[in-house]
Amino acid sequence: MPSTIVTLKVNGRAQEFLTRPGTTLLDALRDSLSLTASKKGCAQGTCGTCTVLLDGKPVFACLVPVETVAGRSIETLEGLAAGDVLHPLQESFIALFATQCGFCSSGMIMAAKGLLDRNPDPSRADVVRAISGNVCRCTGYEAIIDAVLDAAAKMKKAAPSRRKAAE
Ligand code: FES
Ligand code: FES
Repeated sequence: MPSTIVTLKVNGRAQEFLTRPGTTLLDALRDSLSLTASKKGCAQGTCGTCTVLLDGKPVFACLVPVETVAGRSIETLEGLAAGDVLHPLQESFIALFATQCGFCSSGMIMAAKGLLDRNPDPSRADVVRAISGNVCRCTGYEAIIDAVLDAAAKMKKAAPSRRKAAE
């Protein structure tokens, strides 16, 4: 089968590239667009290291054929920081030692972002549910859960001033 041109909106920018049939979204991001934050752990939907947001919802990019999401919006870890300013989730992961080897961190943070975007005030159980598909071999998860809750609290506190600045 011939290669095809696929367009995606990645981190707010339209990206067009040539891809072979059957290429996964994860391979397209890493190999065609050089966005390597999303990691390939199991490549079969069991570890979560490849988690990205597809139209705002967390998906395992290793399970998504890229042709099936042509024209849709993808968010990866590379899109989180605003210049030199880290996203609160990134800040909290660093401050609370929620990352050790770091292999799971991109997927964890994107799963957490998917949660906070739809639920800015999550309970501990909500966070556990949101990252339940993401495996971490290092941290024992508690620091990760604490970091997500810490980021949520920081974002909630900053929300009124963000609203004011937008007025
Ligand atoms: S690499 Fe996608 S779930 Fe493991
Ligand atoms: S920090 Fe190493 S796998 Fe999570």
